[in-house]
Amino acid sequence: MVTGDALRGYLKYLQDLGVYDLYRTSDVADPQAAGLLSSVAANDEYRGAAAPAPVVQDVRTKPISKQASMVTDLQKSAEEPVRVLPAPQRHPAPTTMSASAESASLLAESAEAPFTPLMAPTSFNNRAPLPPVSVEAPQKVAVLQALRSEIGDCTRCPLAYAGRHSIVFADGNPNAKLMFVGEGPGADEDASGLPFVGKAGQLLNNMITAMGLKREQVYIANIVMCRPPKNRVPEPVEANTCSQFLLRQIDVVQPEVIVALGSTAATYLLGVKQSLVALRGQWHNVRGARCAVTYHPAYLLRDPKMKGEAWKDLQRVMVELKQKPASPS
Ligand code: URA
Repeated sequence: MVTGDALRGYLKYLQDLGVYDLYRTSDVADPQAAGLLSSVAANDEYRGAAAPAPVVQDVRTKPISKQASMVTDLQKSAEEPVRVLPAPQRHPAPTTMSASAESASLLAESAEAPFTPLMAPTSFNNRAPLPPVSVEAPQKVAVLQALRSEIGDCTRCPLAYAGRHSIVFADGNPNAKLMFVGEGPGADEDASGLPFVGKAGQLLNNMITAMGLKREQVYIANIVMCRPPKNRVPEPVEANTCSQFLLRQIDVVQPEVIVALGSTAATYLLGVKQSLVALRGQWHNVRGARCAVTYHPAYLLRDPKMKGEAWKDLQRVMVELKQKPASPS
């Protein structure tokens, strides 16, 4: 059921599509970082493939000079078969499922899931090839800042008009070995501009401490950077639009392990809509990193007896990272 507010947001968003962003060019302030950023995002595929709402995304991000040819590009792409890119490999192939099993599961899911084909989740691996170069450690801060500048005062999806105050980019160490991905900012995060600072964030901090780590040592981000109204689950068009930037953050940080917190993060990172129970307890592959799925801290606050299960997931991560737990105080 679409509420009046949501409808007004969508209308404003659509009006905006025709005027504002069409003429916007990149706002990246630091030319050197901009160069590095574009070498990480080396080709149009990196952008275009990243947004399964491609008509919207391409029109809004391509410079004016490219727009005439875009009509023919789109016509051509409608005729061309969809190209599925091989899963990028830094670690061994995903232990979860083969590409064909993944598409089979998507097809099976599509019968019951509320996704239209354009909105179907696409795994981060299938959205774009891995970048041709890795960003060196000392440059990661500048490259992430350039990415943040590129996002600007984003109006790429309806969440821009749904009452957000901040764009919550990420927090933590750009050279982290471990990255946590949540769903989207809540009220506290929207107010502060930082991810996971509310009650769920305090629990996440405790989980990180129990792993023998400090929050400053890990990298924390979300599937969407703007707060969905009333903390609802992000719509596919919102998640698919925003997660192109998460994808690029992952490619810059290149963590060894990514922990997907909850089913929204797992759905969009892995491109499968399956229960958490089915996805936990195995290693997945996301952009060359090993990915574990566990419960979202907000869920653990509602059902604290599941904390033990989440701890088992984190212990597997610690073994992978050769990380010793915090010593009991
Ligand atoms: N829940 C999330 O998924 N992300 C946050 O940043 C906060 C709460």
